[in-house]
Amino acid sequence: MSANRLNLILNHLLNQINEFVNAENFVATTESLFQNIPLAEPDKIFHLTATYVQDKFPQKVNLGVGAYRDNDGNPWILPVVRKAEQIIINDPNTNHEYLQITGLPTFRTASAKLILGVDSPAIKENRVSTCQSISGTGANHLGFLFLSRFYRKDVPVLISNPTWVNHKDIVRSVGLEFREYAYYNPKTNGLDIDGFLEALNDAPNGSIVLLHACAHNPTGVDPSQEQWCKIADVIGAKNHFPFFDCAYQGFASGDLDKDAWAVRHFVQRGFELLICQSYSKNFGLYGQRAGCLTVVSKNADAAIKIESQLARLQRAEISNPPAYGARIVSLVLNDPQLHAEWVEDLRTMSYRIIEMRKQLYDKLIELRTPGTWNHILEQIGMFSYTGLRTSQVKVLIQKYHIYLTDNGRISMAGLSTKNIDYFAKSLDDVVRNVE
Ligand SMILES: Cc1ncc(COP(=O)(O)O)c(C=O)c1O
Repeated sequence: MSANRLNLILNHLLNQINEFVNAENFVATTESLFQNIPLAEPDKIFHLTATYVQDKFPQKVNLGVGAYRDNDGNPWILPVVRKAEQIIINDPNTNHEYLQITGLPTFRTASAKLILGVDSPAIKENRVSTCQSISGTGANHLGFLFLSRFYRKDVPVLISNPTWVNHKDIVRSVGLEFREYAYYNPKTNGLDIDGFLEALNDAPNGSIVLLHACAHNPTGVDPSQEQWCKIADVIGAKNHFPFFDCAYQGFASGDLDKDAWAVRHFVQRGFELLICQSYSKNFGLYGQRAGCLTVVSKNADAAIKIESQLARLQRAEISNPPAYGARIVSLVLNDPQLHAEWVEDLRTMSYRIIEMRKQLYDKLIELRTPGTWNHILEQIGMFSYTGLRTSQVKVLIQKYHIYLTDNGRISMAGLSTKNIDYFAKSLDDVVRNVE
């Protein structure tokens, strides 16, 4: 055998051995391709609830999660929702087919009427585009995605400081930048209207302004109608684009029209705008993910084009939205009798929360807890920004087993006639004794 041929055979053998060894290594290694990605922090509120669930202390209280509870601390299925479910289940035409890409048509039109008002000129002039979404979160995502594709990418999204924990991540997820505007004044526990207007004025023309339609989360502080007019003036003067997040219509005050006032005011003034609706709180349909994105534009031609693009974006993301929750909402909103019963259920929830505000306030006054507590009465909706410091929150959790977010926000729905004494006394103790 020639030396050349021997070399060839040896090389071939060596290659085979290498391949074998590499293959062995590949199988044997436990090193992941994703080894070095950072560990994401758990979501604060869901983490808080998980810790609460594990806590064995009998008097524990959960004031963290933004979900309605009855006076026994239990989730509440609205009676009208139970009724609608029965009707749907017993309907021989109910099936599990796909909905349209943009969702259930009767749900979408009823959603637009609910937020804009039945006599809205925008609806009459066919200037409204709608798309069913994965609840309020999905509406926010789809809304910002739409703007990132068809509006502008060179302007920031202006977000209140503070805001709902998810807003920033949603904005980032579609590649937009955000900037915060002043909102909450810790000295008055109220709105910093001057700081707010100044930030709107200072932002680049045409910025997207994220506004909480009512019951601001987390502060419970809403602008008055007069302040909304001033906000609209500056947004108009600066050509900003209003983006309304409406997660608490009817739940905030018990009055659906009152809670929609700001949105309708902007529509009346001729703005093009976008609205995200959630039926999690006002229908108690948290896990069913029923929501809607509505865009109001200047004319019917634009509205058709907008809706066609929402359908394309939706198709690539979720193909089509879930049917069950939307069917319940649609049935209730489109039936006058069920609608009236829903309004009663809304009052049950919002009035219980308002009652808890009164009782908490009275107890703190009775205990002569240092500080002023008017804001507990004045703030609106599910949450109250107590003004408690992080150090005080820590003691409430560790010593009293009362769970709340470290910014001092409490969910009023977590309070009941059974735990309010315990909460007020614990709060009194930390205010007096913890720096
Ligand atoms: C301000 C705000 N927007 C949107 C949402 C979205 O909620 P969901 O996706 O459950 O409808 C919430 C829920 O807490 C909220 O507070």
